[in-house]
Amino acid sequence: MIDTEEIRLSLEKELSKVESLQELQELKAKYIGKKGIISLAIGDIKKVPLEKRREYGSAVNSLKEYAEKLFKEKEEEIRKRELQERLLKEWVDLSIPLEPKIGAYHPISLTIQRVKDILTSMGFSVAEGPEIELEAYNFDLLNIPKEHPARDMQDTFYINREGYLLRTHTSPVQIRVMLSQKPPIYVIAPGRVYRRDDDPTHSPMFHQVEGLAVDKHISFKHMKYTIETFLREFFEVHVPVRFRASYFPFTEPSAEVDIGCVICGGEGCRVCKHTGWLEVMGCGMVHPQVLENCHIDPEVYQGFAFGMGVERLAMLYFGIDNIKLFFENDLRFLRQFV
Ligand code: DAH
Repeated sequence: MIDTEEIRLSLEKELSKVESLQELQELKAKYIGKKGIISLAIGDIKKVPLEKRREYGSAVNSLKEYAEKLFKEKEEEIRKRELQERLLKEWVDLSIPLEPKIGAYHPISLTIQRVKDILTSMGFSVAEGPEIELEAYNFDLLNIPKEHPARDMQDTFYINREGYLLRTHTSPVQIRVMLSQKPPIYVIAPGRVYRRDDDPTHSPMFHQVEGLAVDKHISFKHMKYTIETFLREFFEVHVPVRFRASYFPFTEPSAEVDIGCVICGGEGCRVCKHTGWLEVMGCGMVHPQVLENCHIDPEVYQGFAFGMGVERLAMLYFGIDNIKLFFENDLRFLRQFV
């Protein structure tokens, strides 16, 4: 027989110290678990002498009901408290103002977009070609002979598949377009190119925009007008433009295009190497051999082409003095273009 009053008091005392569900579970086992004090007492009721059995039995059963009620209340209390603690920890202050972190276009993307906007508004459409290119398109069909220094292992990234390489310029897109379209052709081709070069003004990967116009009666003056207009739109000032005779295997005649230095205004500075001029692109009349290589009759059609380096244009336009800044992904640099 147990003293139900004593058990009740000790249960209440122990329960008041319980803090966690784990402790509660242990206490529950001690009192009303299979082998708990109260459960065993219930089992023993039948051993109590008859005359006391009814009174004792009802006392033990009420104690059990009371204990169950206390445990249930305690469990609810603990769960409620734990929920509150969790909510307090997870609380978010929705009234704190946001610091907006909006991304920016990369200066190279901005520059390509500007070049595209200007030239498409002049009637050119945009073409694309692969960065892994056929050696034949990158060199042979562009009239670049086998012994030309541009093919040298020092400039070109060859890949271990015969006849393929990483294109060294966007000019092979000219070939692709002429092989797949009939004149009149007016296209530009922006994209990545690769050369084994690495210094403050050269990166092994950089971007070019190629231009190609093939039509009847195309002459040097069309090219000159197109390029001058483009450069003045691009630099947003009426810069002086000059065409210097030059040589490219795929054009004849060929020229290099200089603009009056946009940094010093032509007075002479470090960027223009004190010449007052900056070289910005190569150009020329498409070589008749290149037209023929693409099954276009040079007696009927003529063309002009040009190619420029995007990093160079971006450096001049934004006033950036090291090409590496474009590829380091330093957020302090990139955020300036938001
Ligand atoms: N492909 C030449 C280079 O990467 C640039 C160039 C020069 C492109 C003259 C042309 C051109 O289309 O006519 O240096």
